[in-house]
Amino acid sequence: MIKKVAILANGGDVSGFNAVIRAIVKTAENNGVECYGFIDGYNGLLKNDYEKLSTANDEPASGILAKGGSIIGSSTNANVFNYKVVNENGEIEYKDLSDVCIENIKKDGFDCLFTLGGDGTLKSARDFSTKGVNVIGVPKTIDNDVACTEITFGYNTAVSVAAEALDRLHTTGETHHRIMVLEVMGRYAGWIALESAIAGGADIALIPEIPFDINKAVEKINSRIAKGKRFSVVVVAEGAVPKGGQLTIQNTRNNGSGVDNTKLGGIGQIVAKQLEELTGLEARNTTLGYMQRGGTPTAFDRVLSTKYGAKAMELALQGKFGVLAVIKNGKLDSVSLEDVVGNNTKIGAVSGNTAESNLRKVTMDDDLVKTARNIGICLGD
Ligand code: F6P
Repeated sequence: MIKKVAILANGGDVSGFNAVIRAIVKTAENNGVECYGFIDGYNGLLKNDYEKLSTANDEPASGILAKGGSIIGSSTNANVFNYKVVNENGEIEYKDLSDVCIENIKKDGFDCLFTLGGDGTLKSARDFSTKGVNVIGVPKTIDNDVACTEITFGYNTAVSVAAEALDRLHTTGETHHRIMVLEVMGRYAGWIALESAIAGGADIALIPEIPFDINKAVEKINSRIAKGKRFSVVVVAEGAVPKGGQLTIQNTRNNGSGVDNTKLGGIGQIVAKQLEELTGLEARNTTLGYMQRGGTPTAFDRVLSTKYGAKAMELALQGKFGVLAVIKNGKLDSVSLEDVVGNNTKIGAVSGNTAESNLRKVTMDDDLVKTARNIGICLGD
């Protein structure tokens, strides 16, 4: 019997964090379980900083379904298994502080910890589970690249924002006979770029999974010019790389392994410049950035987040720990965290934020790739 549970939201925020939190709290309340939220992700767990979550009037988890961000914060720099600390000599050291977290969980009697996050967050969740903590993960990221699930919460909102941006770039591009480039997020996976390209009627989509040849994009633009279309719309994932080239990195930080230390960005500008030089049309780049993560979730994400939150609490009530709530064949399900972030050859492990983590990348037989190719969207190959 579980009586007291805690939630933490970790990693880059997404629209839908609060909808998941609300669904966990509501399902908990309906089953007589008390719910708490650690503040600022794993940092809150380390500092034992938490608050009670309730959906009673004016309480923190009330009225948050459509609210962007996370009412309990989030952290993009907290790997408590390799935590950055400054020692007495002023030097930076990385320490495994996970036992402090486990002590906090035990001391205050939390029967289950819900971790809302992407591959880095879920790897820590798996490691806590291995150390005996009752953990249940919920797959979050706008990049949609968490292994073992068909969709993560936050992704649909990001795609909708990108599609709307493309609609707007379309009209200004057409008016001024320009190439309009939109750089979207997607470090290792091109889901946002690909799906928004289809939704927003783009002509070219460059994704991390297909190293691009700029000349292929030029050919596409020239073929449009030949048809009298003196403008083109291009979507570029931040993680897109030219054939034989490198990721475009804006800056790096040193928060240790297990967190994103490189900030990507700039490939859109590079592509725009090259296309301008090679086609003779003017080109402009727009970097969509954090617009994709902030603000109210779409109806789809509200429902998905609610399904995930309710399922996560259901799993806790059933005593199924060490798992991630997932969507499999379109239905709610769960898989072991080990399958998600462990050395899982079944899903073809590729390296993500952590050396061990698995990511779900766009595959060449995906319907989105086939659809894009069928309608003539150039994928840079
Ligand atoms: O992982 C999600 C993501 O949105 C990436 O696409 C992006 O590179 C990253 O977060 C940026 O996060 P931040 O700047 O908050 O560290």
